[in-house]
Amino acid sequence: MRELSLHILDIAQNSISAKAECLRIVVIEDMATDRLTIKIKDDGIGMDSETVRRVIDPFYTTRTTRKVGLGIPLFKSSAEQCGGYFEIKSQLGAGTEITAVFKHSHIDRVPLGDMPQTLVTIINACESMDMIYTHTVNNETFTLNTKEIRKLLDGVPINNLDVITWLREYITEGLQEIKGVQ
Ligand SMILES: Nc1ncnc2c1ncn2[C@@H]1O[C@H](COP(=O)(O)OP(=O)(O)OP(=O)(O)O)[C@@H](O)[C@H]1O
Ligand SMILES: [Mg+2]
Repeated sequence: MRELSLHILDIAQNSISAKAECLRIVVIEDMATDRLTIKIKDDGIGMDSETVRRVIDPFYTTRTTRKVGLGIPLFKSSAEQCGGYFEIKSQLGAGTEITAVFKHSHIDRVPLGDMPQTLVTIINACESMDMIYTHTVNNETFTLNTKEIRKLLDGVPINNLDVITWLREYITEGLQEIKGVQ
């Protein structure tokens, strides 16, 4: 994929399908160790160990519309092609946690991409699911917790167009701040 955010969107869609109530997305960019870590954790239906084992195989899917599921295998190979690794932990009835680590400076590592747009797309795709996003660049962290945003909204739906526009700007500014862009 052209951008890592597209992998994040894809993995988040799996969490929505798995009926997650809360999705946690963690991005850590650490120049000291030259690593970019992406963690996506949900409290959805989870998978048994046999499914977890097979899920990294592109020909395994519970989809009925087509026979191959590519989301997880693609993310895994992206990480492995960039001097990193991929891990998936899941427990039936408890949830799933996916970790992809990249060498930050690897020549083949594609950019993170448009995280503000990706996050509002996820919020729009599943209004009822909560999301906690933390993005750390070296020692600076930006956090977005939709539970807290909902309290401020006082009944206005989080997928209201004006709210989404505001959220996109809020995330954009927050990420610029932690990256040291004035
Ligand atoms: N977070 C999750 N919780 C529960 N099951 C999951 C989760 N993520 C993936 N799975 C299971 O693993 C299978 C493979 O996922 P993957 O994303 O690779 O393919 P897909 O979603 O089936 O198809 P695609 O992503 O190509 O549209 C899914 O069909 C689903 O059964
Ligand atoms: Mg998928």
